[in-house]
Amino acid sequence: MEEHLTVGRVAELAGVSVRTLHHYDEIGLVPPSARTATGYRAYSAGDVERLREVLGYRRLGFGLREIADLVDDPTTDAVARLRRLRGLLQEQRDRLAATVAAIDEELEARAMGIRTEPEDQLKVFGAQLYESIGSAYPATRRTERRIAARIWDALGEARTVLNVGAGTGSYEPPDREVTAVEPSAVMRAQRPAGAAPCVAAGAERLPFADQSFDAAMAVSTVHHWADPIAGLREMRRVARRVVVFTYDAGSPGRLDRFWLTRDYLPEFAGLLVGWPSLADMTRAIGGRAQPVLIPWDCADGFFEAHWRRPEAYLEDPVRRAVSVWTRVGPQAEQRAVDSLRDDLSSGRWAARNRDLVSLDAAELGLRLLVA
Ligand SMILES: C[S@@+](CC[C@H](N)C(=O)[O-])C[C@H]1O[C@@H](n2cnc3c(N)ncnc32)[C@H](O)[C@@H]1O
Repeated sequence: MEEHLTVGRVAELAGVSVRTLHHYDEIGLVPPSARTATGYRAYSAGDVERLREVLGYRRLGFGLREIADLVDDPTTDAVARLRRLRGLLQEQRDRLAATVAAIDEELEARAMGIRTEPEDQLKVFGAQLYESIGSAYPATRRTERRIAARIWDALGEARTVLNVGAGTGSYEPPDREVTAVEPSAVMRAQRPAGAAPCVAAGAERLPFADQSFDAAMAVSTVHHWADPIAGLREMRRVARRVVVFTYDAGSPGRLDRFWLTRDYLPEFAGLLVGWPSLADMTRAIGGRAQPVLIPWDCADGFFEAHWRRPEAYLEDPVRRAVSVWTRVGPQAEQRAVDSLRDDLSSGRWAARNRDLVSLDAAELGLRLLVA
């Protein structure tokens, strides 16, 4: 018979109380599969595996309901779930390390009698990722005119436009009065001379009065916000019209619609955990979603841009300008790139993706939300 651990032993090993384990059992989160002769709960290897996953998500601050959805996700297997958990823990570790480094810097500055600017105190919470990867951004990230045309068209007659998460300002319309909002100092510093004025702030607390702009736009940024729904509601509050270019993370075929995530980078799924659904996002602005097909020669090098030019993903500058590659971690990145390189030279990629060659534009889950 399979060996089981008693509830007391499991509690001791995991550093949780027996009461917690009883609670997890009562709500069906981690029900032990056996009882001892004396009636105590007994945990099999499989039960312990599930408990480990639950405790990992608890450590990340997830609620028990959310955890239940994650550990019961029928679309992933145990290895994929472990990878997802690992990616999230790594991300948390990086964030904590960046926070500690920022506090050390401030302590040093204080010791020398230097006051830290308020925006520098905040930036570690809002934009630390772009503080480290932002300088690689302009190499391949620029306006894609066909997507810009859709965004500008959706802005309608708006004369004053707020661009939230503006970065270097790629999609700012040249013929309107634009105000940009961008929390990362590195990104702000890379805005071209003559670009619209830029305010240091995060989407979740826009420093503007209600209805102070004709329109607010946000391009390729919502998934970076700590609280996307709060940010979208803020856009709705400060503007009469809202236009958002983003990604539909909720549809079931999300990994399969792009060969890169389907065949080389399954870790992408881990990055989508906790993202709001398209329905929640459109509800937050009171709008509707329209698909945006990505042209085969897309000029803006975002993650999906090179779907018909696979060799581009082998180039370091292409990957460095896209946060996904940093977020999945160096091991997953290396494995994906090596495997893609092999498949390109063996002809396997071409054989698997021969349908793509005849397409001029692809549906890869990008959406324009308009309200
Ligand atoms: C992929 S870039 C997009 C920049 C620009 N919109 C574009 O299309 O080129 C994402 C931007 O979101 C910014 N960002 C991160 N967290 C944010 C937040 N909480 N509020 C507003 N912007 C944020 C980042 O600093 C970064 O500049």
